[in-house]
Amino acid sequence: MNNLQSTTTLNNGVKMPWFGLGVFKVEEGPELVNAVKAAIKHGYRSIDTAAIYENEAGVGQGIHEGLLEAGINREELFVTSKVWNSDLGFEETLAAYETSLQKLGLDYLDLYLIHWPVEGKYKDAWRALETLYKEGRVKAIGVSNFQIHHLEDLMRDAEIKPMVNQVEYHPRLTQKELQAFTREHGIQLEAWSPLMQGQLLDHPDLQQIAAKYNKTVAQVILRWDLQNGVVTIPKSTKEHRIIANAQVFDFKLTEEDIKQIDNLNQNHRVGPDPDNFDF
Ligand SMILES: NC(=O)c1ccc[n+]([C@@H]2O[C@H](COP(=O)([O-])OP(=O)(O)OC[C@H]3O[C@@H](n4cnc5c(N)ncnc54)[C@H](OP(=O)(O)O)[C@@H]3O)[C@@H](O)[C@H]2O)c1
Repeated sequence: MNNLQSTTTLNNGVKMPWFGLGVFKVEEGPELVNAVKAAIKHGYRSIDTAAIYENEAGVGQGIHEGLLEAGINREELFVTSKVWNSDLGFEETLAAYETSLQKLGLDYLDLYLIHWPVEGKYKDAWRALETLYKEGRVKAIGVSNFQIHHLEDLMRDAEIKPMVNQVEYHPRLTQKELQAFTREHGIQLEAWSPLMQGQLLDHPDLQQIAAKYNKTVAQVILRWDLQNGVVTIPKSTKEHRIIANAQVFDFKLTEEDIKQIDNLNQNHRVGPDPDNFDF
């Protein structure tokens, strides 16, 4: 792991960049298109969106323009989207995949995720993802917001193990048990809201560590993700932050730094609880 194009190898052999751009809450329009283009221009090779973000068309436009400008091929980019809760079901999920592809203007995704573990629904959706995968329509399939018991339940009937679980993960929610479980099962953990949506950036412990390396708190947190073996996808629409957030491959936190950051855990979520959500 030594640059922005460095990858982790998923349990099916597909390579996924350790670092990517998230675009949650970014509406369709030039800000979105420019953020995606800026990310590609500055070396990002992974973009994370979802049907529910209602921005797949702009993400697609940013991807196409960004690839053209950077002179790189579609195959060099790793694109993730997610099926929303109202589309969970075998036929519904197959159809939702086509809709996402159409909006993005792509003919395959690198990773397609079940966005939330809606009881009674995610197994049919998983069969749809397995079908897409077996047909070669998607490079990798996975889940998001799955707790250990959801993963156990899914894997009881699954033909194919999820390759990724994307969950809320930051120094206030370190997910140690879940990470041990996913590691044991060869499922790559991926962090959403890695910066806790900007709420941790003035924490004194983090500021102290950041000063030691002449880095920002955001860079320290994102480096901590990587050293913990967690894929990370911070969101920014500001070009200077898109650039700065990715400058995490030129320093290394010590074991003590990592422990100190781990110790900030409070099992505190900024997003919904996967065991108690009603959408
Ligand atoms: N699977 C799921 O259920 C799920 C849920 C939530 C998110 N996600 C994914 O994870 C991605 C990241 O999570 P997130 O967007 O919730 O939160 P985040 O990446 O933790 O934080 C984003 C916020 O921090 C600000 N920011 C970014 N870099 C900064 C920096 N260097 N200094 C100061 N502020 C900075 C951004 O503002 P500016 O844009 O103004 O820079 C934005 O307000 C999402 O975009 C989405 O792709 C997935």
